[in-house]
Order: sequence, then C-alpha cells, then structure tokens
Amino acid sequence: MTTGNTWHPVSLSHAIEPGTSAGTRLSGEDLVVWRDKSGGAHVWEDRCPHRGMRLSFGFVRGDHIACLYHGWQYDSGGQCRYIPAHPDLEVPKTIKVPVYLIEERAGMIWTALAADAGPLTVAADETGTVPVHSIYVDCSADAAAAALENSKLVPFSAARDAETKIAAVAPSLYAVSAGHDRLLVGFQSLSEQRTALHVVISGLPEVYQGSGQAHFLNWVLGLRYRIENPPKKVVPSPARAVAEAL
Ligand code: FES
Repeated sequence: MTTGNTWHPVSLSHAIEPGTSAGTRLSGEDLVVWRDKSGGAHVWEDRCPHRGMRLSFGFVRGDHIACLYHGWQYDSGGQCRYIPAHPDLEVPKTIKVPVYLIEERAGMIWTALAADAGPLTVAADETGTVPVHSIYVDCSADAAAAALENSKLVPFSAARDAETKIAAVAPSLYAVSAGHDRLLVGFQSLSEQRTALHVVISGLPEVYQGSGQAHFLNWVLGLRYRIENPPKKVVPSPARAVAEAL
C-alpha cells in the first residue's frame, strides 16, 4: 500500500476547511494539506525552502500560504511570491515548495508522491458521502487492513443480521457494506508502524447525517479497539499438545 506512484488518502475532505492547513505524513514524508479561500485543496512538502519551518504551522492568506517564521508567501503552485524583509525583490523562480498531485474523491483528499503516478482509480461517488472519523493506529497499513477484513458491520438502516461484505475497491480503499449501508475506509500509511484510517458513509446526508454518523462512529471506535487489541493466539501447553496428538 505504500509505493510512491500509488494514490493515498491524506485527510477527510471536511477536515480541511477553506483557509486552513494541517500537517500529516505519508510513507515517512512530512506533508502539509491546505485549502485556499476559494476551496481548492493542496498537498505539498511540509517544509519552507527558507529555513525549513513546517508550512503547516503557517497561515493561509487567500490563495497563498505564509510561513510562520519569516512570512515568506507561496502561491497555490508552490512558487514563493513575496518576502516581507525584501518587499521590492522579484523572487527567484527557484524558490519553490515541492507540490504533489491532488484529487478529491469519496469524501477524502488524495495524493501520490510520484509525479508520474497514473490516474486515481477511485470513482466519483454518485450518491454522495457523509464523513465519520479518522483514526490513527500503531500498526502497518497491511495489519490494519487484515483487522478490517475480520470486522463485522452492524447496519444502521437495515436488518441487524445482514451479512458484512468487505472488498478492496481501489488501492488504499476498502468498501464495507451490510444491508443498505456502505462505508468507505481509506488507508494512509504514515510510517511502517503507524496508519490512519479515514472513514466515510457512502450515502445521502439526509439519511445519515446525525444519528447515522454517531452509529458508525461507534463502529470506527470499535474497529480501532480491535486493531489495537488483536485476539491472542492460544498456545497449547506441551502436555496438552501431546495429549491432542494421541
Ligand atoms: S523559514 Fe519560512 S520564511 Fe523563513
């Protein structure tokens, strides 16, 4: 799940409001995810080219982001446009923040670290999505996916005994469904031993907003508990193993 030319979710869309930024990681790379005042989302390296301050600590000003330390301002393409200590300077084109590919699908912000990544294969969700929660767990993305595959979904709006179906619908994205309900779970590998899971309901806000979100938030918290407390393997005592072998 962690190669540079694969798309990964790095945030729930609703978590980054216009005019805000947040720091995150993907496969060990520090990233800033920010949204300009007109709603466009951006994913960049989280490092100011001047002295290395995290840009996620900075301020969004219209369609620019300003570094907290000395106020250098970068436009939405990552190009430095203004240096407060030298207001009349034409800023050299070489002062630029590395920017990454960006898409918004399934209620999540997606990026790929490699510029030559193919198109994101997550389809636009025709019915809309309702955000649930992002959880952070101390295990690899593969271990979290294995725990998800063994989980059961209690439906919100259908028969309580509906069968749970889990399928990988794209790299880093699983669909979990039971009855009429369907969740999408995006996997973000922060590092080899830390993973974020971003969860949305695939469905209409008028059906799920409020009590539906609360219902599936409980499911998400239960999933985190199961990931962090995997069932212990019972190791038979040597005497019992011998007895069972006879
Ligand atoms: S470190 Fe960012 S402006 Fe100086």
